[in-house]
Amino acid sequence: MSAKNEIQPASVEVLGKGLKLPVIAAPMFLVSGPELVLACCHEGIIGTFPALNERSSDGFESWLEQIKSGLASAGRGTRNFGVNLIVHKSNPRLHADLDLCVKHEVPLVITSLGAVPDVVDAIHSYGGVVFHDVINLRHAQKAAGAGVDGLIAVGAGAGGHAGTMSPFALVNEIRQFFNGQVILSGCLSTGRDVATARMMGADYAYLGTRFINTRESRAVDDYQQMISRAAAADIVYTDKVSGVYANFLKASLQQTGMLDAPADPEKHKNIDFGEELQPPEDETNSAWRDIWSAGQGVGSIVDSPTVAALVEQLSDEYRAACEEHHKASGHFGQ
Ligand SMILES: Cc1cc2nc3c(=O)[nH]c(=O)nc-3n(C[C@H](O)[C@H](O)[C@H](O)COP(=O)(O)O)c2cc1C
Repeated sequence: MSAKNEIQPASVEVLGKGLKLPVIAAPMFLVSGPELVLACCHEGIIGTFPALNERSSDGFESWLEQIKSGLASAGRGTRNFGVNLIVHKSNPRLHADLDLCVKHEVPLVITSLGAVPDVVDAIHSYGGVVFHDVINLRHAQKAAGAGVDGLIAVGAGAGGHAGTMSPFALVNEIRQFFNGQVILSGCLSTGRDVATARMMGADYAYLGTRFINTRESRAVDDYQQMISRAAAADIVYTDKVSGVYANFLKASLQQTGMLDAPADPEKHKNIDFGEELQPPEDETNSAWRDIWSAGQGVGSIVDSPTVAALVEQLSDEYRAACEEHHKASGHFGQ
């Protein structure tokens, strides 16, 4: 483990100050934009978005400016928001987007795929915090060695590029060698789930799919309605769409003809995240735009509220679960 993880930078403490709930609304390709980020931060949880949701680095910078001025004039909530960077050689914008994160002092940078000490040092140079998402222990150890401040444990059933590990196994094994922040991801949809994540030893709960179904999300109505109707059994874990395993709504695979399409071995040879994670320009079926990703937590989602109403509900559920636990804890171990 890197010695850097022994001492937590003060900025890690600052990140959590004044939050209403220990919740990060996870970055989602084509779903999270400035409206969602601002609504989350105004309500006292951390909003995030992938840099690649804007077509160019210039567009990305204008989103950063929009978010920063929206937060400065809000007078409530948190100013701590996050940006997701894909750290992979096939992302041609990485360096330009990283420079913009440094220029605008983005409080939280979430790195995916590669955990690189140079990227971590650049974010630390202005007091920013780096969390890195992992689906297995090998990647977690590598990221810890690169000096990240937090590890996002993406468990089985998560939306997007999920893994197959039980969240209990993943969090427990990460805790054995990592003293930094642990963030739990995968199928968390309710305030009780957030409380459970904390009970498991996570510092934050990382909710993706739950925020697809909000008024401020960029997901189209049909996508949100499909989530409202779906249960865990309606989620398919497949590498057919892009060559990398991810969870998708079965009905969207069906309606695009992808469910029964033969596997394409070429997709596995040349995985190009620069290509896959580009907002689509034409009308042909496109991964993420027409083939909709969601996690197994869909079964608890039946509505598309405003972020304000959702955070209120998560907060009530969280507090009720904590109180229930507190009362019940006296019943055992006497
Ligand atoms: C539609 C969709 C798009 C996603 N896009 C990204 C992305 O661009 N970058 C990223 O790091 N994670 C992405 N994720 C993963 C989420 O950040 C998060 O790990 C996941 O949604 C958590 O699981 P849950 O959806 O079950 O809550 C995406 C997830 C979904 C559902």
